[in-house]
Amino acid sequence: MEGASRPKVLFFSAKPDERLLQRLGEVAEVVLPASPGLSPQEVIQRQAADVDVALGTVPWPAAAQALAPRLRLIATISVGFDHIDVPAATQRGILVTHTPDVLTDTTADTAFALLMMAGRRLGEAERFVRAGKWRSPGDATLLFGRDVHHATLGIVGLGRIGKAVARRAQGFGMKVIYYDIVRQEELEKQHGYQFVDFDTLLRESDFVTLHTNLTPETRHLMGAAQFAKMKPTAVLINASRGPVVDEQALIAALREGRIAAAGLDVFEKEPTDPDNPLLKMENVVVIPHIGSATAATRGAMADLAVSNVVAFLRGEPPLTPVNPEALAR
Ligand code: 8YV
Repeated sequence: MEGASRPKVLFFSAKPDERLLQRLGEVAEVVLPASPGLSPQEVIQRQAADVDVALGTVPWPAAAQALAPRLRLIATISVGFDHIDVPAATQRGILVTHTPDVLTDTTADTAFALLMMAGRRLGEAERFVRAGKWRSPGDATLLFGRDVHHATLGIVGLGRIGKAVARRAQGFGMKVIYYDIVRQEELEKQHGYQFVDFDTLLRESDFVTLHTNLTPETRHLMGAAQFAKMKPTAVLINASRGPVVDEQALIAALREGRIAAAGLDVFEKEPTDPDNPLLKMENVVVIPHIGSATAATRGAMADLAVSNVVAFLRGEPPLTPVNPEALAR
């Protein structure tokens, strides 16, 4: 009998790392997008019909999964998996894996950097100097910001990244309060974090930072009603998923002074439109979804995703499954 054909991995990468290709090549035939100009959806339409594994951070709604009848594993290079219809994948016995932990500290650093920038108006200050507006020395009231040290930080979602941000806050002497659907009393005892209900967090926080997955329950978790409960001096930080915030409500809250500032790594639509009003606001720090963007972290994420693929194709347990129950289908 001819040698059995090897499983096929569709690797959604424009510039695949040779070391990753070598690791994958030991267990599979690797296919890259037919052309760099194709969108992920076009690649799926043209190339997914005979692949067993999809590797990369691309949308996999149920309709896309239906174009891949042989698909058995979606290995996303991200901790978030809201771009994948996981229930549909589970129904079809398609395993989904993601890349938690390896990006936690880098993403928490980014969230805290946004907090510092928005709190102390550092983006505005940088533009002020660069624009040549710094004309008089010793202006004692120049660019007054909000103290971060010893302020109250409200963390929405005390998961891996939320906990890492809390550790950073402790270094600044901040009071940490948190809201989550899971209470973590050990951390309260160990670190003095205070569990509060969502409304209390909104009312008492000087800084509110969002660290939830995007789910139907968390979509637009932050809307007009929530902003109305915040301090007018409060700062919102979002390095989780854009749609956790009703962006139109945020724009209105900032315009009407119901909150003071925001620091955003994520947006409801990405890339965000150049004419998004948030980009015109001096009191809003905006960066392009680079929460995990260091070479070491993105390398570790890709390594972990490939390790999931290799383990799966060798019949070994995946390292970081999202829906392990799919394996039993
Ligand atoms: C980006 C993230 O996905 O891991 C996630 O869920 O949002 C980020 O790490 C990643 O940077 C893009 O590959």
